[in-house]
Amino acid sequence: MRIERAEGLGFCFGVKRALAILEDVARQKGGVETLGALVHNQQVMSRLNGLGVRVVKDIAEIAGDTVVISSHGVGPKVLAEIKSRGIGIVDTTCPFVQRAQTAARRLSEAGFFTVIYGDVNHPEVKGILGWAEGKGIATLSAGDLDQIELPRHIGLLSQTTQVPARFIDFVKTITERALVKDAELRLVDTVCHDIRQRQAAALDLARRADLMLVIGGHHSANTRHLVDLCSPHTETHLIETAAEINSGWLAGKELIGVTAGASTAPETIDAVVLRLEESAPR
Ligand code: F3S
Repeated sequence: MRIERAEGLGFCFGVKRALAILEDVARQKGGVETLGALVHNQQVMSRLNGLGVRVVKDIAEIAGDTVVISSHGVGPKVLAEIKSRGIGIVDTTCPFVQRAQTAARRLSEAGFFTVIYGDVNHPEVKGILGWAEGKGIATLSAGDLDQIELPRHIGLLSQTTQVPARFIDFVKTITERALVKDAELRLVDTVCHDIRQRQAAALDLARRADLMLVIGGHHSANTRHLVDLCSPHTETHLIETAAEINSGWLAGKELIGVTAGASTAPETIDAVVLRLEESAPR
């Protein structure tokens, strides 16, 4: 049995950056609050808890003088409300997410209605919608847009972690609909570069592997996308930790591929690989 790690697995650039900023502030202040979970990964959040990091769900729950904004970012109204309460802000919004926020703001200023290909319940998407200043909608199904009257000027963006090929399909559907309305479309490619490379590497490995293990949080969007991409090509399982490996999956497998979501810690990946190595027939 061979074990191969996909290229670029684990913490992405934005998560590494956000963690470095947060850990620095937490150590300096002896603890700090974050608005929402910094990353969707229980193991990482438990470690941060040990540094005195506390997650608040709402601005009203902030007890300290400073709050950390997660890598997913927030809308301008949220930032304004925090400032109006005299609370300091440490902003760890990923630069790739900021790029999508800026695109939404510019589209809105230019009079465009922004359509975001993304999960409307995800904090990143809520934040980007905020920057569209009420002139936008988010969905993962182009069919949902049949229910609304689209204006003539339409801007198209994607949640940073979506699968590029699906965004293209989404854009094609909207374009076909808009063409009959003599509309003007503006497309901004906001899929994260890191995610694009990670998905391509996972797919390449899944095509060769007898089994793929995707390590990450069950609620992590980018982790679930990796599972969706690999599943059509080989047996694929999503696990959060090494303890979830079922030895029955390994029987008769020659090449086991391992990849991980953008918020999965290196030690979690190492523990999975170690458990696989220990399970390999001698
Ligand atoms: Fe940023 Fe991409 Fe990571 S948007 S937070 S580098 S997945």
